[in-house]
Amino acid sequence: MRQVKYKQLTELQKKALDVALEVLKHAYNPYSRFYVGATLISVDGELISGTNFENAAYGSAICAERAAVLRANSMGVRNFSSIAVIARGEGFDTTEVTAPCGSCRQVLYELAQISDTKLEVILATTKKDKVVIATIDELLPLGFGPLDLRIDIKKYKA
Ligand code: THU
Repeated sequence: MRQVKYKQLTELQKKALDVALEVLKHAYNPYSRFYVGATLISVDGELISGTNFENAAYGSAICAERAAVLRANSMGVRNFSSIAVIARGEGFDTTEVTAPCGSCRQVLYELAQISDTKLEVILATTKKDKVVIATIDELLPLGFGPLDLRIDIKKYKA
């Protein structure tokens, strides 16, 4: 896990954060009023974003990270090198980075196994004055995955 400056990021990483910041305005968040945007970077350099989508039954809310994964999957894209996440509140900018919740870490861990990459999670404050890069292994040490079930997920092609 390392803190970096926005200007040190690659153009693609910067673009992923910029797109995440752009799309978070579409968050459906009547309950929390918290806006989250997530942009996946595919191994081919394609950017696919999602925002959080809440529900009156609060526990049924879907985070931006998982929304992006499901959207990508429905586009037939399932191999990623990174995901960028950025958030803001209603009337406030974040002053610390917003890291994925436990359920999203588990889904991103699966994605890392599928992609056979050390999936990088790029986190930034609203103003991008703090940027942290962590691998999913750092965010979810000793994660449970397909290998626990003796499944070689790279052979899964359906
Ligand atoms: N949320 C995300 O979308 N991603 C995160 O990383 C943290 C939390 C959303 C879920 C909910 O809509 C709102 O933020 C408040 O928890």
